[in-house]
Amino acid sequence: MCNLACFFIETFGCQMNVYDSEKLAGILSELGYLPTNDVSQASIVVLNTCCIRNTAENKVLGRIGELKKLKDKNREILIILVGCMIQQEDKAKELLKKHSFIDIFIGTKNLNKLSAIIKNTLQDKKNEKHSEKIFVEPFSINNDYIEQITTPAYRTSFPNAWVNIISGCNNFCSYCIVPYVRGREKSIHPDIIYAEVVSLLEKGYKEITLLGQNVNSYGNDSLEGWNFNELLIRLAKINMKYRLRFMTSNPKDLTPEIISTVREYNNISKHIHLPLQSGSNRILQLMNRKYTYEDYYDLTKKIKKIPDVAITTDIMVGFPTETEEDFLDTLRAVEDIKFHNAFMFVYSARTGTQASKMPQLPNKIKKERITRLVGMQNGISQNISQKYIGKTYEVLIEDTIKGSNKVCGRTDNGRLVSMAGERELIGKFVNVNIITTKGSSLIGEIEND
Ligand code: 5AD
Ligand code: SF4
Repeated sequence: MCNLACFFIETFGCQMNVYDSEKLAGILSELGYLPTNDVSQASIVVLNTCCIRNTAENKVLGRIGELKKLKDKNREILIILVGCMIQQEDKAKELLKKHSFIDIFIGTKNLNKLSAIIKNTLQDKKNEKHSEKIFVEPFSINNDYIEQITTPAYRTSFPNAWVNIISGCNNFCSYCIVPYVRGREKSIHPDIIYAEVVSLLEKGYKEITLLGQNVNSYGNDSLEGWNFNELLIRLAKINMKYRLRFMTSNPKDLTPEIISTVREYNNISKHIHLPLQSGSNRILQLMNRKYTYEDYYDLTKKIKKIPDVAITTDIMVGFPTETEEDFLDTLRAVEDIKFHNAFMFVYSARTGTQASKMPQLPNKIKKERITRLVGMQNGISQNISQKYIGKTYEVLIEDTIKGSNKVCGRTDNGRLVSMAGERELIGKFVNVNIITTKGSSLIGEIEND
């Protein structure tokens, strides 16, 4: 029960949004609100939306329906929609028309103004004055980017912390809406990142994940010539026990130097998330990915020279004009490379992107292909997990498993492990002997030393 004014934030979509929500929570805390996990207790409800695929958008639309009931019960609640879906102004207008009970719509570019917008709206409500509801500034195609929110993030994921190093994207893959809703690439100064990482480690965080749509192009927009490899080395040299991770790597920009750095530094996690998208060169070209399957395959061969490394990926099926032959190329790629894990998606047309203007495939074909792909990858992930049995790995304990006396964590290369253990273990590194598997996750026992 919140005796004080509380806020509730629900996040849709990617890790980037999770990080943004932590920043938004920081802003709301500064305004004097407390976080709650119970939406019915909140006086401010924020939905941080995602529009990368239609499944993400549908989830947001479903939740809006539920919020209407909440607002009917309590007219005082402030309901705010923010993020990528709102950055498309037409969509914000359409949502407002349909759901006039929503109080504020803020696109990605205006997120740093959340505090001022809330204050104004509350003041206007008090004075029974009409207030502006939609705050969306369009990005220009050339050099516009999101201003960083300088308020410290309100973090909820101990012992893991996410640190944004570059926002936006310059790649314009033909299917993707991100460059339109997040603007151009903007790198954060390495000194700011360094200071944030050190401060998190001093607070006891044990795993830092550097975030960006394409971390490898970090620094390309700076005049001082920073680059991702130098940033990684600088952070890896911090003399404290922790794990350094990063995502996402674009295959066209992952350099041999970065691969060597990952190999060389013990505290850099041996995990590379490297979206393939398709195994067909014809489709990769239509996607504007700027690499061939052969380039990608060579890259995985180089990465696999790192002992115990895991490569994970994103794959899409049903891109416009994808033939059975193209799809078989993707299946062959999955069979050949043997990803530890894959996020697998059905292509969905995004308004304004190049691919949305190409001939679209029927849903039936897309569904059939995703089922075949998921079936194949699940088998591969499970086979890989079998190879962990009988070996000992260092695991960072991240959480308890509800309703049991078990805890879970991850190996250095990102495999999920569960085992008997107490809450006090959260944030500790323990050696775990892997006993068996469940699906693709591992079940182990903590070794006593
Ligand atoms: N349809 C389906 N999947 C998409 N992705 C990006 N845009 C789309 C789209 N229009 C997937 C890509 C990307 C991941 C984050 O989301 O695989 O790597
Ligand atoms: Fe989208 Fe391509 Fe940029 Fe990734 S690299 S965010 S898929 S445009």
